[in-house]
Amino acid sequence: MSFHKTPKEALLGSATLGVILIAGYYFSKGRGRSMSNLKSHVGNKDNPLMQYVLNHSMREHPALKKLRLITMDHRWNAMMVACEQSQFMANLVRSIQAKKAIEIGVYTGYNALSIALALPEDGKVVACDVSEEYVNIGRPFWKEAGIEHKIDLRLQPALKTLDELLAAGEAETFDFVFIDADKMNYDNYYEKSLQLLRKGGIIAIDNVLWSGKVLKPAEDDLDTQSIDKLNKKLHRDIRVNLSMLTVGDGLSLAFKI
Ligand SMILES: C[S@@+](CC[C@H](N)C(=O)[O-])C[C@H]1O[C@@H](n2cnc3c(N)ncnc32)[C@H](O)[C@@H]1O
Ligand SMILES: *[C@@H]1O[C@H](CO)[C@@H](O)[C@H](O)[C@H]1NC(C)=O
Ligand SMILES: *[C@@H]1O[C@H](CO)[C@@H](O)[C@H](O)[C@H]1NC(C)=O
Repeated sequence: MSFHKTPKEALLGSATLGVILIAGYYFSKGRGRSMSNLKSHVGNKDNPLMQYVLNHSMREHPALKKLRLITMDHRWNAMMVACEQSQFMANLVRSIQAKKAIEIGVYTGYNALSIALALPEDGKVVACDVSEEYVNIGRPFWKEAGIEHKIDLRLQPALKTLDELLAAGEAETFDFVFIDADKMNYDNYYEKSLQLLRKGGIIAIDNVLWSGKVLKPAEDDLDTQSIDKLNKKLHRDIRVNLSMLTVGDGLSLAFKI
C-alpha cells in the first residue's frame, strides 16, 4: 500500500477528485497549461519519486498521521501543508532550538501540531486563524499528542494578533514564523513577523510559487501579484539571508540578520 492510500481514502476517491476539481485556489484558471504544485497530496499521490521520498523520510507522530488522514476527507484539503514540508520545518525549528513560534493560517492544525511537538515543554506556538470550524477538526489531535498547552490559539484576523504581540512588548522574541494565510496580506505578515523575530530567527513563507502562476501574474489576479511582489522584495532585502525552496508549493526561508 502506498504512503497516502488507506482503505478509507480509496473509498473516498471520487470525493477527493471532486475536491481537486473545485480547488481552483491551487490551479490556474485554464490560461495556457495548468501548472500544479509539488505537494505530496496534491496531484502527486501516484508519483513514484514522491512515494520514494515519503517512504524514505517520513517519521510522522501517530497523532499527526491521524490528523493528516482526517484532513484529507475535508473539502479544502489542498490547503493543508505537505507533510514532508512540515517535517522539514519541524527539523528546522529543532535545529535553531526555537521556543517561541507563530503560525499564520492554521487550517486543521497539522503544522501547528508538528511545530508544537518540536518545541520544548515550555515552548509555545501562537496559532492564528479566523475559522473555528477548521481549527476544531485538529484540536482533539493536539490533545491526543499532549501538546495542547503549547498552542496559544487566537481566533481573529492574524494582523490583529501580530499587532497585539508587538503591543505586548514581544518584539524580537520569536524564533520561527510560518506565513500561510491570505495572500493579499503577505507583505504585512512579513514586516510584522520580522519585527517579532529575534536575530537568527527564521520566517518561512508558503506558496511562493503559487502553482507556477508567479511566472506570469494575470492582471486581475491580485493574490499572485501580491506573492510575486513579496518574492521580488525578499530578493533585495538585506535584512535577511534567503532561500527559495521548491518543496510543496514553494517555500521561502528568510533568516533574520
Ligand atoms: C493554507 S491554510 C493554512 C494551512 C496550515 N498552515 C496547515 O498546517 O495545513 C490558510 C488558513 O488561513 C486562514 N485565514 C484566512 N484569512 C485569514 C486571516 N486574515 N487571519 C488569519 N487566518 C486567516 C484560513 O481560515 C485557512 O485556515
Ligand atoms: C513505498 O512503500 C510502499 C509500502 O511499503 C510500497 O508498496 C511502495 O512500493 C513504495 N514505493 C516506493 C517508490 O518506494
Ligand atoms: C547571513 O549570511 C552571512 C554570509 O553571507 C553570514 O555571515 C551570516 O551569519 C548569516 N546570518 C544569518 C542570520 O543566517
